[in-house]
Amino acid sequence: MIVTINGRSQVVQPEERLIDLINRSGLEVPHVCYHPQLGPIQSCDTCMVEVDGKLVRACGTMAAEGMNVVTSSPRADAAQREAFDRILGNHLLYCTVCDNNNGNCTVHNTTKLLAVEHQEIPYKPKPYEVDMSNPFYRYDPDQCILCGRCVQACQTLEVNETLSIRWEDEHPRVLWDGGAPIGESSCVSCGHCISVCPCNALMETSMLGEAGYMTSLSKPALDGMIDVVKGIEPEMGYGAILKVSEVESHMRESRIKRTKTVCTYCGVGCSFDVWTKDRHILKVEPLEGPANGVSTCIKGKFSWGHINSHDRLTKPLIREGDQFHEASWDEALTLVARRFSEIKAATGPDSLAFISSSKCTNEESYLMQKLARAVIGTNNMDNCSRYCQAPATAGLFRTVGYGGDSGSITDIEKAGLVVIVGSNTAESHPVIATRVKRAHKMHGQKLIVSDLRENEMAERADVFLHPRPGTDLIWLSAVTKYIFDNGLADQKFIDQWVNGAAEFKKSLESFTFEMASERCGLPKETLTKVAHMIAEANGVCILWAMGVTQHSMGSDTSTAISNLLLATGNYMKPGTGSYPLRGHNNVQGASDHGAMPNFFPGYQEVADPAIRAKFEKAWNVQLPPKPGLDNHMMIDAIHEGKLKAMYLFGEEMSLVDSNANFVGDALTKLDFFVVQEIFFSETCQFADVILPASPSLEKEGTFTSTERRIQRLYQALEPLGESRPDWIIIQDIANRLGAGWKYEHPSQIYDEIAALTPLFAGVTYERLEGYKTLQWPVAEDGSDQPLLYTKNFYFPDGKARFYPVPWSEPTDQQDAQYDLHLNNGRLLEHFHEGNMTYRTEGIREKTPCTFVEVSPDLAGERGIQTGSWVQLTSRYGKVKAQAVITTRVQGKELYMPMNSTDEAVNRLTSSHTDKVTHTPAYKETSVQLRVLGEIGEDPLPRTNSRHGHPTPQTGVEVERKWKRKDYRQPGDHLVQIQNARP
Ligand code: SF4
Ligand code: SF4
Ligand code: SF4
Ligand code: FES
Repeated sequence: MIVTINGRSQVVQPEERLIDLINRSGLEVPHVCYHPQLGPIQSCDTCMVEVDGKLVRACGTMAAEGMNVVTSSPRADAAQREAFDRILGNHLLYCTVCDNNNGNCTVHNTTKLLAVEHQEIPYKPKPYEVDMSNPFYRYDPDQCILCGRCVQACQTLEVNETLSIRWEDEHPRVLWDGGAPIGESSCVSCGHCISVCPCNALMETSMLGEAGYMTSLSKPALDGMIDVVKGIEPEMGYGAILKVSEVESHMRESRIKRTKTVCTYCGVGCSFDVWTKDRHILKVEPLEGPANGVSTCIKGKFSWGHINSHDRLTKPLIREGDQFHEASWDEALTLVARRFSEIKAATGPDSLAFISSSKCTNEESYLMQKLARAVIGTNNMDNCSRYCQAPATAGLFRTVGYGGDSGSITDIEKAGLVVIVGSNTAESHPVIATRVKRAHKMHGQKLIVSDLRENEMAERADVFLHPRPGTDLIWLSAVTKYIFDNGLADQKFIDQWVNGAAEFKKSLESFTFEMASERCGLPKETLTKVAHMIAEANGVCILWAMGVTQHSMGSDTSTAISNLLLATGNYMKPGTGSYPLRGHNNVQGASDHGAMPNFFPGYQEVADPAIRAKFEKAWNVQLPPKPGLDNHMMIDAIHEGKLKAMYLFGEEMSLVDSNANFVGDALTKLDFFVVQEIFFSETCQFADVILPASPSLEKEGTFTSTERRIQRLYQALEPLGESRPDWIIIQDIANRLGAGWKYEHPSQIYDEIAALTPLFAGVTYERLEGYKTLQWPVAEDGSDQPLLYTKNFYFPDGKARFYPVPWSEPTDQQDAQYDLHLNNGRLLEHFHEGNMTYRTEGIREKTPCTFVEVSPDLAGERGIQTGSWVQLTSRYGKVKAQAVITTRVQGKELYMPMNSTDEAVNRLTSSHTDKVTHTPAYKETSVQLRVLGEIGEDPLPRTNSRHGHPTPQTGVEVERKWKRKDYRQPGDHLVQIQNARP
């Protein structure tokens, strides 16, 4: 398709907007409200061009064959200028003293592009105050140009539906929940609106008074300078004023550093630039992250208080009785090396164990397992995927071969139907949730949610299933059986690609809808509807998380999910597949890079002599042939006196492992315990030596996100105090034990990984430069696989396998004494127990403590109110918390988030595990509840987003603006004048 622009032919790409084509052609046309990731908003009118003699908005027009486009005709130019003049009526150009004067302000840059010297429509302030009620950002109505980008982002990309503009008002402004203070609205502080705002109307509070050279002046002084600017504008014009602001903007470049990094919290893998001035974090700026675009959640955007927290560990500590004394690095590392050597000599290498961090880098996990295997000589090596993700990996190993998401986040967006099982996606993986919410709201995607709680995704779902706890495997298998029995299976796909159909179908015999309905408590009609939705959808993606995996049948239920996808042919195509949502930022990478008891990096078996020989040759050592202990077995081995020493980094084991009291007892029995951390965590209390490490912003390396995406993070800050990056500390210990490692940069570690690991053969730091990423497996030539199975499944014959799974009763069942079911999980604002997130003041303000959700029925029965203190007692421990009465939970089911170290929910959970992987059955916990009689405030303060009242609408709804009596399309009067001419 060919379009002529300003007399030159341009080839059009499929479904290309005129504005994108113009930009691609290198021509400069103003476009203030258009943002490619938001689509056309059409509110600013600055992109007017002439098409075949008519004025149109370039952002709202699709390029079409034969169009004759003129971007700078007198009419188009006049229309663009008129539109921008109206914008300047809403915005004071005080750039030199503005914190947004950083070279990327759209209003500033458009003023320059159009060479505006004077404005026709004078600036007029709006009759509203600046809103500072949110701890993270402010809204200044006087600077707001009413472009609507923020509204579009909130309504159609984040889909939190907080923002709107009431175009009918005399003085429209952006509204939160229709007119509430930001801090009391439904705003979840995700930051989308701020990231897309084209000027300084929405700004991070961390930028205010910090970014510019003169922006920290007092308000009267600033107002005075602004008045001076206004005063000289009529005489000098904006050109001269902008020149001054550009000099100031250039000066900022020398003191503001922008560093690409990857989020340190969940497994979505959001990447962004972090802006720093010395150690001050000015802001996080998401631009074009391959996983997230401009999206973030409250944690990635704002939760960085841990970096400069006053209680960071900055010196090594050594235990002295019940106290710790500060030590030099040399003293601490010498002690570690000496004790490891002594214990190895006395009780053998298998009396030591190593736990890697799924918050740290791939290179660090690789070095930790190399230390365990090659230097100490043990396979006692694990990471916290044992606590969450191992069952999903096992289910995928059984059925399709690789233990990773079978596609990308873009596939989830494309699917005709998304099924979410046991995942509170909107709070645990918020940016993935935005993609589902957007597709559901804007593009007709269907959504089924199975969960114990009516969380946000459940509220939005077309079908919400609330099965009895621990029965997901049953309904999944029953739906699969129904699909087979009713000829709805994808037989062609099965014949070509899946082994074991006959045996599998037989294994489903007992999973009738009658049985499922009785066991799960789900109506047969609902199951029938679900089966048809899945069988008939144009592409199904199933997303699942801890609500599935943290059960005694976690691996089997994960297997049942994959079986269902195979039966319906939902692999090997875009918009299909299995998506276990990885919890930590690098939980996928830690396992991928060998922090497991039975695998070298890339899931190469330690028990395989040929594989072992390869690593022995490369590392020049003899390696232990027997798989080692996993986390769960390590705790038992300590209690049994077999395990004497442990080295753990970046992991709050004493609280995140199930049955925390039992784990704590074990840790006191260790002869020698080394903990490497950024804070004095609860686990540090059990340590003999504590080594101060550096968080993500203080080091380089790579993380691997849930979609198998390997991404580089760059160092933004120097390590604080004497803290050091984990890879340097691990190397130091290895070398004191005689290893002779000489890594000077993490890239050298990755070169070694790539040489030894077919899964990562083509990964190099050059190929990951900046925002470039690779999704494993990566072939030697650097080609990767966003969609995992395209030509075959990962088994010797290239075919997938149905894997029959029976159902068994959950563990730790209710009885007369422990009569309530306790579910647990994350909260949006906090990551796990809150070790890092509580160190950000605004997060503490919004979510200060833990609580327990109680259903209205149970609350009525037991006389509980929101704020009532209750004690929960399980067969393993007890905790105290305040109640929140909510319809999110039903009947005798309770929910407690994990965000507490004092009253940690894992004091209640058991030592029962998934049979296959030893992942604790955290979600199978029975408790009794005692009302303590005291009633306090609502543990969720008024400023928590849950108290807000969203105002859903389709987007900015610009048509309402066009209906205003005072609205006239720019350039219209020129057309009228022209038409009026004889
Ligand atoms: S939820 Fe809040 S921060 Fe996020 S886009 Fe909406 S208004 Fe902005
Ligand atoms: S606050 Fe919203 S409407 Fe106002 S300028 Fe920023 S993005 Fe545009
Ligand atoms: S916590 Fe997860 S969703 Fe939020 S910004 Fe980080 S990676 Fe993205
Ligand atoms: S960019 Fe086209 S109307 Fe704003």
